[in-house]
Amino acid sequence: MKSVIRLLFALAIFCAAPAVAETMREAVLRQAALDNGLRPAEELWPEFEPDKAVAGKLLFESELLSLTRNVSCRNCHLDEFGSADGLPLGHGAGGVGTGIERMKSPAGVLSRNALALWGRGGVGFDVFFWDGRVDASSGSVLSQFGAMVPSSDPLVVAAHLPTVEFREMIGESDETEWLRQGNVTAAAQVHQEIAGRIIATPEIADSMAEAFDLDVAELTYLQIAEAIAAFIRSEFRLRDTKLHRFVFGGQELTGQELAGGLLFYGRGQCSSCHSGPYFSDFGFHAIPFAQFGFGFNGFGIDYGRYNFTQDPQDRYAFRTPPLFNVTKTAPFSHSGVEPDLAGAIRAHVDPLAKIDTSKLSPLERAEIYQKIARWSQEPSYAVELNERDILDLVAFLSTLEFDPEAEQ
Ligand code: HEC
Ligand code: HEC
Repeated sequence: MKSVIRLLFALAIFCAAPAVAETMREAVLRQAALDNGLRPAEELWPEFEPDKAVAGKLLFESELLSLTRNVSCRNCHLDEFGSADGLPLGHGAGGVGTGIERMKSPAGVLSRNALALWGRGGVGFDVFFWDGRVDASSGSVLSQFGAMVPSSDPLVVAAHLPTVEFREMIGESDETEWLRQGNVTAAAQVHQEIAGRIIATPEIADSMAEAFDLDVAELTYLQIAEAIAAFIRSEFRLRDTKLHRFVFGGQELTGQELAGGLLFYGRGQCSSCHSGPYFSDFGFHAIPFAQFGFGFNGFGIDYGRYNFTQDPQDRYAFRTPPLFNVTKTAPFSHSGVEPDLAGAIRAHVDPLAKIDTSKLSPLERAEIYQKIARWSQEPSYAVELNERDILDLVAFLSTLEFDPEAEQ
């Protein structure tokens, strides 16, 4: 009898074991997420003035902000594409429609993939663009404005740039050719022209004047940029996700999400770079994604951070992208070369998997060797991931989507 009881007891422990092990795995993931900086979304909400945000929405959606009056911020930062545009490369001035339609139109094509706007300008979010060309991580704002920097708020500085970029919000034509000198004076003239148009548009100018407590005639591009920044801070603030509810509430994850999470913070090394409350260390790293399109430096080359620092160590390095809602912002990478998440993850660990090097010229191959040499210094270099691991990671990334019901 005694031995039967012992057997039953052992059996009970055996049956319970998987459940216990599962809970330990959950505890490990919860702790890893906390150790790597996950915070409730609300703690990262920036301050902004609601009146300015209301005016900012009008500006964000106005084509008056493009010199050629044919593109607004909204054309490339759309709700249906997770605040990006669903295209490999941004399609600006002259473009018509959204998604694939826009690719068929005579739009100016940019050299980079549109970034999403979630969390931008939130608490501690102070490095902007793929190459960090607006960077306040040192306490003061570094940008191409140099000492003429228009604001100490990096998001306000960032909102000065789209309107002076060729192909983005300035169409290429004989009349705009003089702006190519690309200096601070030329930028100031564009900004002045736009401010003049807004002053002459009561539907926008009146609400701005009220929000800033100024006369309409006193409005400048600085207030335009400040209003847009307030709108971005309000509209695109972080929301809680399934991962938040798992870490801070009692939400359960599926087995696959859990496995992916443990890989993300463990063997996959993802959190070496995708860390902190926005899943970015705001540092610059080289992941040898294939390059799509003409490239920022031309002829299919984009030197990334190097363009800004001229430090050879920064060649091919890009700011670690934040990962909230990443499931909604395909295609991926700075040039949008990867159509799906699995491919984007694979490029981190096995960059040659999809590149047929025999089809490339010796120069193009030399370019790849250089990228790989730079990548070999990164933590993802020595990581091996099989197909199943990659699917688990994709499942984990889906827990970073904002809760659709959570109207916060
Ligand atoms: C033609 C498409 C297009 C238009 C129009 C456009 N953007 Fe963007 N936006 C992009 C692309 C592409 C990037 C990434 C560029 C880069 O990093 O080099 C980007 C990046 C950004 C970023 C940086 C996000 C980050 O993660 O650092 C902000 C902020 C932004 N845009 C705001 C705006 C505002 C405000 C406007 C209107 C004044 C605007 N954009 C108009 C395509 C566009
Ligand atoms: C060495 C730092 C580093 C590590 C480690 C790392 N990443 Fe990245 N990740 C980056 C950088 C930098 C980019 C953008 C590179 C580019 O576009 O050229 C990126 C891009 C991405 C993208 C595409 C995002 C977008 O908006 O285009 C995803 C998804 C991603 N990483 C997920 C992961 C996962 C999952 C892991 C772990 C297997 C991982 N990363 C490990 C730095 C890193």
